[in-house]
Amino acid sequence: MPEPTAPLTATAAPIDLAMQRVDAVIRERLSSRVALIDQISRYIVSAGGKRIRPRLVLLVSEALGFDGPERFELAAIVEFIHTATLLHDDVVDESALRRGRATANATFGNAASVLVGDFLYSRAFQMMVSVDRMRVLQVLADATNVIAEGEVLQLMNMHDPDLAVADYLQVIRFKTAKLFEASARVGAVLAAADRGLEESCADFGRSLGTAFQLVDDLLDYEGNSDELGKNVGNDLREGKPTLPLLLAMERGTAEERVLIRHAIEHGEMNQLPQILAVVRRTGALDATREAAQREADLARSALDALPPSSARNALLELCVRSIHRSS
Ligand code: IPE
Ligand code: IPE
Ligand code: MG
Ligand code: MG
Repeated sequence: MPEPTAPLTATAAPIDLAMQRVDAVIRERLSSRVALIDQISRYIVSAGGKRIRPRLVLLVSEALGFDGPERFELAAIVEFIHTATLLHDDVVDESALRRGRATANATFGNAASVLVGDFLYSRAFQMMVSVDRMRVLQVLADATNVIAEGEVLQLMNMHDPDLAVADYLQVIRFKTAKLFEASARVGAVLAAADRGLEESCADFGRSLGTAFQLVDDLLDYEGNSDELGKNVGNDLREGKPTLPLLLAMERGTAEERVLIRHAIEHGEMNQLPQILAVVRRTGALDATREAAQREADLARSALDALPPSSARNALLELCVRSIHRSS
């Protein structure tokens, strides 16, 4: 078992101050003349969240010597894109709990959640245009597009027990790692890093994001709802073939394989205890954690390209905390 660690968000003071600036931008840019938009967007944003993606923008740009005010705007932009994906994702996944609160879809309905998600995406693009950097616009437009592809690919993989591990990995690269990658890359672009350094930052973000989603998929089986702020067992209920189940089928007995195949095909929750026992017994949870650790190690090595600094140390620390987390 991983040792308990400090919360993911507890980092050095300068970054906390910078994050307060980001929060101010977020609050300011959320405003809409349409009351329901204001209400729903503030509902989800005020619930908090770990704010990892904006941290990546700030820390990477700082590690490369950039301290211009655009970094606050761009950090807020990536959080808006992320929040839009969450609003949509919770509708698609029929999730009831997010950031310790009833989801927006549970509270305001699916239609309102989807539409406010669209508002946040488009607000993020208005903000990007105001930053007036074509390369940044290109990186974030591509990332937003790839995230949508990832969510649709995942939809197509639903209830498929024969999904290949490589196809599962493609989904998590697209739906999650891409925005981590783009956040780190944008930090490098802001700092006018050369192309090689920019690629190292992008590699770092991609590996960290992959590790992060692998752990998310693990926590859906062995996490705690109170700490996570979202319900565990959601993936099984939906028949989502994530790595813990794919590995358990590879390693289990014929009988265990039948049990898991059936659960994926039908999205059954009543077999959760038995399935949990199988994923544990076969070592599928440990193997998922090891896969996440390997990605986090890749992320750490990508940071070798950055000069030593406290910001780089905070990024290294983020790699550790993304693995050993409970929320
Ligand atoms: C949730 O992301 C969606 C995934 C990619 C697993 P986070 O775990 O970063 O969500 P918040 O922003 O902290 O709530
Ligand atoms: C992450 O996948 C979805 C996005 C990238 C929007 P999940 O569906 O596993 O995320 P949670 O568990 O609902 O936060
Ligand atoms: Mg979800
Ligand atoms: Mg999840």
